[in-house]
Amino acid sequence: MQKIKVAIAGIGNCASAFIQGVEYYRRTSGKGKDGLTGLMHPDINGYGPGDIEVVAAFDIDARKVGRAVEEAIFALPNCCYRLIDGMSPTGVRVQMAPVLDGVSPHMLNYPPEQTFVVANQEPVSVVEVLKETGAEVLLNYVPVGSEEAARYYADCCLKSGVSFINCMPAFIVSDPRWAARFHAAGIPVIGDDVKSQLGATILHRALVHLFSQRGLRADRTYQLNIGGNTDFLNMLNRDRLATKKQSKTEAVLCLLPVDFERNNIHIGPSDYVPWQRDNKIAFLRLEGRGFGGAPVHLEIRLSVEDSPNSGGCMIDAVRCAKLARDRSIAGPLTSISAYTMKHPLEPLEDEEACRRVEEFIAGRRER
Ligand SMILES: NC(=O)c1ccc[n+]([C@@H]2O[C@H](COP(=O)([O-])OP(=O)(O)OC[C@H]3O[C@@H](n4cnc5c(N)ncnc54)[C@H](O)[C@@H]3O)[C@@H](O)[C@H]2O)c1
Repeated sequence: MQKIKVAIAGIGNCASAFIQGVEYYRRTSGKGKDGLTGLMHPDINGYGPGDIEVVAAFDIDARKVGRAVEEAIFALPNCCYRLIDGMSPTGVRVQMAPVLDGVSPHMLNYPPEQTFVVANQEPVSVVEVLKETGAEVLLNYVPVGSEEAARYYADCCLKSGVSFINCMPAFIVSDPRWAARFHAAGIPVIGDDVKSQLGATILHRALVHLFSQRGLRADRTYQLNIGGNTDFLNMLNRDRLATKKQSKTEAVLCLLPVDFERNNIHIGPSDYVPWQRDNKIAFLRLEGRGFGGAPVHLEIRLSVEDSPNSGGCMIDAVRCAKLARDRSIAGPLTSISAYTMKHPLEPLEDEEACRRVEEFIAGRRER
């Protein structure tokens, strides 16, 4: 099978999980059912996870820029769970990107092992690198609130014909104006803000759906999230948080009754607990009424390794982007975006999104 050439912007924990995951499944391929654990789609129309190849990587941290990708993914402040021992050489070095708004000022008040350390280097031309390396898909993993940086990478993709997969909550693929630009340029894109494989969003959505399916009325709900990685540290800056809160809230609100009181839903990243590192804990509560108006209260605590949880979705998104490129499809891919992203252009119920992804893979649905 042809390789899928991937560029990555932001070699943080999510990139680490994704790159380790590709190697993990390359090694377990052909080892029976056990080797497929953790995958939603072992095969996407002939493409396996091992067909993904990283050809370019961009970051701004002094401990990552200039290093081989397989080393940089383990450099501080990354703290991703280790999926495998020892990585094969990729032959790719992390290149210096323009910093733009990638580093929030409050991040500079923390010790280096917890925060970003900006490299003193001239940025490369991302467009040139994308063209030279033949990258087909770019994963945007810059920090929450880096709106300018996210738009910069989207623009580089437009200029180089590369598919943009937006894993963070800058509303680009879900913005009809950007969507039209990618459509006109003939480029398939996926976004925005990756929905983890079994994270707080998909679990919250499933519980809300269950309430309505069983005739219960949800009255109040919250979802509190705490973690100890740089994503959570970055989100301590409330000014950068608006899009993340909107993306996470809308992902649940769209399944609640239309007259649901907006003050009765509270969802967001809630605190940074350094010793938790990449372990994320989500507390979910739903209050509602059942038969005869009798009260029902539901509480759940979810504990997951945050970054591998996003990798499980990205490994499908990348292969679907490649499939769309093979089929000359342009613009936002609505089925895989609704399946793997919190803030897609066209939100769908999860079962419907899942069904449409199967149709897309089988070639029975255009996007
Ligand atoms: N499950 C998940 O972990 C999850 C789910 C949904 C969304 N996301 C989003 O994905 C993004 C990445 O998450 P993460 O945990 O890997 O974050 P991270 O903090 O570990 O990594 C961010 C990386 O971006 C780099 N960076 C900063 N500015 C840059 C620039 N201008 N160009 C290139 N690189 C730059 C940093 O040095 C760092 O290596 C975040 O926005 C996060 O909110 C993550």
